[in-house]
Formats: sequence, C-alpha cells, structure tokens
Amino acid sequence: MLKIEKLDHYGRGITKLDNKTIFVENALPDEIVEINIIKEKKKYSEANVSKYFQKANNRIEPNCPYYNSCGGCNIMHLSYKDQLKFKQNKIENIIKKYLNEQIKINNIVASDRIEFYRNKVTFQVREKIGFYKEHTYDIINIDNCIISDKLINKSIKYLKNLNLKEINKIICRTGLDELMIIIETQNKNLDITPLKEIASSIYLKINNKYIHAYGNKNIYEKLENYKFKISPDSFFQVNIDTCSKLYNKVKEYIGNNKNVIDLYCGTGTIGIFISKNNNVIGIEINEYAIKDAEENKKINKIDNINFICGDSGKKLKQLKFNPNIIIVDPPRSGLNKETINNILKFGSKEIIYISCDPMTFVRDLNILNKYYDIKEITPFDMFPNTYHIENIAYLVKKV
Ligand SMILES: C[S@@+](CC[C@H](N)C(=O)[O-])C[C@H]1O[C@@H](n2cnc3c(N)ncnc32)[C@H](O)[C@@H]1O
Repeated sequence: MLKIEKLDHYGRGITKLDNKTIFVENALPDEIVEINIIKEKKKYSEANVSKYFQKANNRIEPNCPYYNSCGGCNIMHLSYKDQLKFKQNKIENIIKKYLNEQIKINNIVASDRIEFYRNKVTFQVREKIGFYKEHTYDIINIDNCIISDKLINKSIKYLKNLNLKEINKIICRTGLDELMIIIETQNKNLDITPLKEIASSIYLKINNKYIHAYGNKNIYEKLENYKFKISPDSFFQVNIDTCSKLYNKVKEYIGNNKNVIDLYCGTGTIGIFISKNNNVIGIEINEYAIKDAEENKKINKIDNINFICGDSGKKLKQLKFNPNIIIVDPPRSGLNKETINNILKFGSKEIIYISCDPMTFVRDLNILNKYYDIKEITPFDMFPNTYHIENIAYLVKKV
C-alpha cells in the first residue's frame, strides 16, 4: 500500500518506494493505492493503480467510457475546479523553479465548456477508428469522444462505414456547424459516399498532399465580429471560447495606434482581431495558412494588415518596420536563437508571448528577461481534461 503525495506536471500521482520516485497514473494526492509497475527506469518508475484502498475527496467519475485506457485525456478524474487548481499550481511551480525573475501569476482563465469543446480531432485508424491506448500504438475503438465537438461525435458512425483497412488517419475539423473531414490514405479512389450526408468538405491526404474530394474547399469559424477561413492544413486554436478570451487579453495589451508584428500568425487571426486601430504585419511559414490569412483580410474588410510567408527569424531580419509591439505565438518548440536575436534587434517597447508549452516558454522568457521586464503571466485553459495549458506573458522593455 502506498500513499500518493502530490501530482506531477502530467497529472500523475507521485509516491516513493524504497527511496525511488514512482509516477502513478490516475492517482490523486492522499489516495492509498496498490500499484502495478509498467516501466522501470534507473531513477524512477511508472505505474498504474491495481487497487484503491482510499480514494481522494476530489476524485470524480469521468463521463467517458474510454478514459481508463485512452491516451487523450489525463485529468478527467479531477473536478473542473481542481483541474484549474492543478494547472495554476503547475505553472506557478514551473515559474518558481525555472524563471530567473519571480513574478506573480494571474488566476487561470477557465474554459466555458469542458466537454464538446475541441474543434479538431485526429482519429487513428487501422480497421478500427479511435485513439491510441496510453503508451502504445494499439487503437481503442470509440463511438464518441466527450471533449470533441458534437458534430465530430455525430460523424463517427459515418466514418465507420468507410473502408477502414485503407485508411491511416482521419482528421475532423468543425466551424460554424460545418464539418471538414481529411482522410489519410493511399487510395485516391477511396469510396467517400458514406460521408457526403454529414461533411461539407472532404479531402484525401495522399503522401502529404491534400486532394479536394467533395463539397466546399474550406470551412469557416466566427470569433466575435470576425469570420475566419479554415483550410485542411492551417492552424486554428482548438477551443474557440478560450481563444476569444485569449485574443481579448492581447487586444487589451495592444490598445490603439500601434505598429505590431504578429509572428507565427497562422491564418492571421490575432492580427485581424487587433487590427482595427493598429498597423499589423503577420509572418507565418505555412503557405496554406498565409493564403487563408490573405482571404481573411478580405472577408473582414481590413486594409491595415499585411502578411509575409516564411520562417519567422529569417523574415524578421529582412523586415523594414518599426514595431511598438511584437506578438509571438510559436509552436511547442518555442523561439530559436535566430528569431530571438532578431526580435531583440527591433527593440520594440513591448512583447506579448503566447505559448502552449510552459518549459520552452520559461526558457525563452529567461533570455528576453535580460532586456525586458515580465509584467504579467496569465494561464488560459484551452485544453480542459488534459494537463496542457496555454500561457500569455506581457513584457515591457527595461529602461
Ligand atoms: C501555435 S500556432 C499560432 C497561430 C496563430 N497565432 C493563432 O492564434 O491561430 C503556431 C504557428 O506557427 C507557424 N510556424 C511554425 N514554425 C514557424 C516558423 N519557423 N516561422 C513562422 N511560422 C512558423 C505554424 O505553422 C503555426 O501556424
């Protein structure tokens, strides 16, 4: 029998056996459990629970039949209030341990919905359709996914009528009650008839190329008064409600009459959202995203924003612009040296850093912090029921 002491950053319980740390899945602080070791390393082990002798008061019964085996969600056994507490503690601990300057973290901004919020889902397919079983490439066959949009859930029974033997993956994206389905296959003649009743756009993805197979080429999403085009490969935040709160925070920092660089701009969403009274340049590497950004500019009748397609670091170097504020929203890997150096060369008065990976976020903030004060960090819950957090930092140049 072992007592769980606390949670790690992945939502696993931590306990000790013979002075060795053990990370236990689906175990909460104060629970007394019997464990089953699943991975043994020199310095630590990983385990799951074979028996609960005492359960925690804040444990809830997840509303998902696949939770115990599916690798998708990790903290669904915590009440939402405690999920938020876990995320707040997680970012506070990371900041305390790794950030050179100590600053107070604002309260996490909750998600309006904790179920049916995801507008993009990747299903693994190999005769079955579903998600990988935790730590394996075995697929769990599913009929529904409680965190995914209701339209995506509705589509699963249609997806099951495809010839799954010929499919590797299926990506479903939604926006404004429309469904886009992208099927990774090698068969360009795959019969997609079963999907025509539910999808408004269907693509086949063959050898990394998107082939339009049915319906509209794109779907659209609305964010307050703005409408955004989504194409198969371009990035769009997965939780539209939290996305809106995050973008409003950016708007609050930017104010009016500023020259803004929106680095890693995706389909231009942030830039367009704040461009009413500001001049914006968006930089993005994905050519599909930039095409969408150009169209989003037209759809929303915005003139004072321009987009550049290319690597952020390299394009920054060539840019003749005098920004007051630089927004960065990089992928999980964060900023590379070239990009940071070129951001620093502009010497803009303010920087807004948005990140979905707290470790690369803190690593980059430590570099920027030599020249900028970190005024605020606010966590946002973009991904309820998982251990992931989105963070935004507001930096002002040191005088
Ligand atoms: C987290 S997304 C942010 C998108 C956008 N800001 C939004 O809120 O929708 C990161 C974006 O960075 C782009 N990206 C990745 N590497 C890049 C690079 N080296 N230079 C420019 N953009 C890059 C990706 O294609 C993706 O669109």
